[in-house]
Amino acid sequence: MNIEICFQEEVDSTNLYAKRMAKEGAPEGTLALADAQTAGRGRRGRNWDSPKGESIYMSLLLRPKILPEYASQLTLVMGLSVAEGVADVLQLPVQIKWPNDVVVDGKKICGILTEMSADMDGIHYIVIGVGINVNNQEFPEELKTVATSLRMVTGEMQDRQIIMQGVLDAFSRNYERFLETENLGGLTEAYNRILANRDHQVRVLDPKNPFEGIARGINEYGELLVERQDGEIIAVYAGEVSVRGLYSYV
Ligand code: BTN
Repeated sequence: MNIEICFQEEVDSTNLYAKRMAKEGAPEGTLALADAQTAGRGRRGRNWDSPKGESIYMSLLLRPKILPEYASQLTLVMGLSVAEGVADVLQLPVQIKWPNDVVVDGKKICGILTEMSADMDGIHYIVIGVGINVNNQEFPEELKTVATSLRMVTGEMQDRQIIMQGVLDAFSRNYERFLETENLGGLTEAYNRILANRDHQVRVLDPKNPFEGIARGINEYGELLVERQDGEIIAVYAGEVSVRGLYSYV
């Protein structure tokens, strides 16, 4: 994929920046990149703390010709790509907590927020926002047990540019594979190999029907296959529920 970087020192949120460019007709591959965000956003309406110069804040604009219901799988493609890119560049064991938290030493180093504009005729655009904790040296009290940075796990300052390039290279490769089948079929093996929840007891936080079981891996649609005690395997869809480890964040 041809990636065109649009950099600003400070923006409200790179997702908003990418969406503004999308509305003006920017092509697939446009990357909104910033050194700081004043209104960084996380999932479930949370804030994403975005101090200047420490982390990677970027949002990639895509215009795939796929059905809108397949779009959420692209979040998993990006999660896999961040994990592979970081593992490649730093030679670290990186894992994924389903669906798309990238974790090192059991703590989160990256968050992904995907947003889409679509109507009955299909997808106008998708923006995949990625925040990677690179050189942070500490986190607010409430995040200390769940978040870490690449500097904290390696004990050394890391080069944001090299890490970003590693992630974008991995994404270009994985996105191509995704488009071949319009699902994760070609990527499930790579994903499941580094799935932190794999074979772990998890609690599925489905508001209507919470249950516990053992996570066995994802299928080609990115659903997590959870084996209940009675042996039945339930496919859990990422958009609706989240899972927690019974004994830790993972
Ligand atoms: C999460 O809650 O885990 C997702 C966090 C996503 C943060 C990134 S930082 C770059 C992009 N811009 C935003 O406002 N959010 C995403």
